[in-house]
Amino acid sequence: MKKVTTKTLLEMKRNGEKITMLTAYDYTSALILDSAGVDVILVGDSLGMVMLGYDSTIPVTMEEMIHHTKAVVRARKRAMIIFDMPFLSYQTGKRDAILNAGRALKETGCDAVKIEGGVEQEETIRALVNAGIPVCGHIGLQPQSVNVYGGYVLRGKGEEREKLIEDAKAVEKAGAFAIVLEKIPSDLAKEITEMVSIPTIGIGAGKECDGQVLVFHDMIGMFDKFKPKFVKRYAEIGKEIRNAVETYVSEVKRGVFPDEEYSY
Ligand code: KIV
Ligand code: NA
Repeated sequence: MKKVTTKTLLEMKRNGEKITMLTAYDYTSALILDSAGVDVILVGDSLGMVMLGYDSTIPVTMEEMIHHTKAVVRARKRAMIIFDMPFLSYQTGKRDAILNAGRALKETGCDAVKIEGGVEQEETIRALVNAGIPVCGHIGLQPQSVNVYGGYVLRGKGEEREKLIEDAKAVEKAGAFAIVLEKIPSDLAKEITEMVSIPTIGIGAGKECDGQVLVFHDMIGMFDKFKPKFVKRYAEIGKEIRNAVETYVSEVKRGVFPDEEYSY
């Protein structure tokens, strides 16, 4: 099977073919996503909340990201795999960014990294790309800056609109192969998508983006600690699992399981 590359994504944008991205943090989920035809699997630092129970993405370490990404890479046949650079693995400068992102590529077998930030990260993105590391940008709501903004608020409204446009330009100019646009008005996402030559991947950024991304556990109804408006629930897997576990507990307690069918 032909693997999805940065070139594939660029061609998809040019052909008007939508790009699909979902998060995965483990082997079993990645197998399902890859075989279901998801173009890009993001090992998001959202794993801090979804897998590890942290309150934000801030505590996530390189070690945790590497551990989970290795499992995802083992499942992959077709999808591109992006490693989400955790807080403090790139904000301290180009050298740290190259060492950490290079480590991600070398140790996990992922294809690219993602870093949060626009104009502020232009030099770092350029340095990574020059070092041979493909970079996906991420502008708009930047969860690693939650403490600066005091919450997961909509970005790019009013005066901030121009800043977001400058961010998108900076990320493109620095050589990123795609940009995630998180929680910004749809008309701004449309403007950015038409302005840049690289694909835009939206999350809470409307339908005009070149592609869409969601957190897997959100869209299957497995995680409800946060419920942003932009999450569509395609299944209620959490409820299904709960029912299964409750039935199991009840059957074992009552001596119903295992019966002859499940015994030797
Ligand atoms: O960590 C993550 O899951 C992300 C996506 C929501 C874009 O960064
Ligand atoms: Na992230």
